[in-house]
Amino acid sequence: MSTSPTATSTDALSVTLDDVHLAFGRNQVLRGVSLHVPAGTTTCVVGPSGSGKSTALRIVNRLLEPDSGDLLVDGRSVLADDVDEHRKRIGMVFQQFNLFPHRTVLDNVTLALRHLRGLSPDAAEHVALQRLDAVGLRHKASSRPAQALGRSAAARRHRPCARPRAARHAVRRGDVGARPRAW
Ligand SMILES: Nc1ncnc2c1ncn2[C@@H]1O[C@H](COP(=O)(O)OP(=O)(O)O)[C@@H](O)[C@H]1O
Ligand SMILES: [Mg+2]
Repeated sequence: MSTSPTATSTDALSVTLDDVHLAFGRNQVLRGVSLHVPAGTTTCVVGPSGSGKSTALRIVNRLLEPDSGDLLVDGRSVLADDVDEHRKRIGMVFQQFNLFPHRTVLDNVTLALRHLRGLSPDAAEHVALQRLDAVGLRHKASSRPAQALGRSAAARRHRPCARPRAARHAVRRGDVGARPRAW
């Protein structure tokens, strides 16, 4: 794995992995990974398939807990924090679809705003439409994800990008993965 930070904004939080280890059974995937992402920067984690990129990102969102080592946000360990509170600050764009297929695009975007941020239905819809506008998908608000996004991997990632944008996380992470063979 290699990383490369680039400054993008100043209104954000730093994220640090400190000597993180994680094994799935006998498969020791992360063996002492340390990574500091300064506030307001973008870092790309690059490496071969199976090297542990997604696993490391899941630890940042606390979808996985490390066997040892620490996760810090703005210099403070957050592994003992309430996990829902943690995820209000840390957004993740998943590599795969991860949308509710039976709900509209708009519903998918408003869910986090209503249930995590406690916005009223009207306020959540207002924010969600703004964010869909930002990614060029406002006209698809009433469609189901499968109708709205078509087949391309790029299009599939557009809509999930609106969800963390809408939730206004201080830290957003995208798990892009390998370029699909169809491209
Ligand atoms: N939930 C899991 N259970 C067991 N093994 C897993 C799990 N998630 C990932 N792995 C294994 O961990 C390794 C790293 O996977 P991953 O983090 O997805 O790699 P990358 O994102 O770099 O392609 C792989 O060997 C994968 O099979
Ligand atoms: Mg991956």
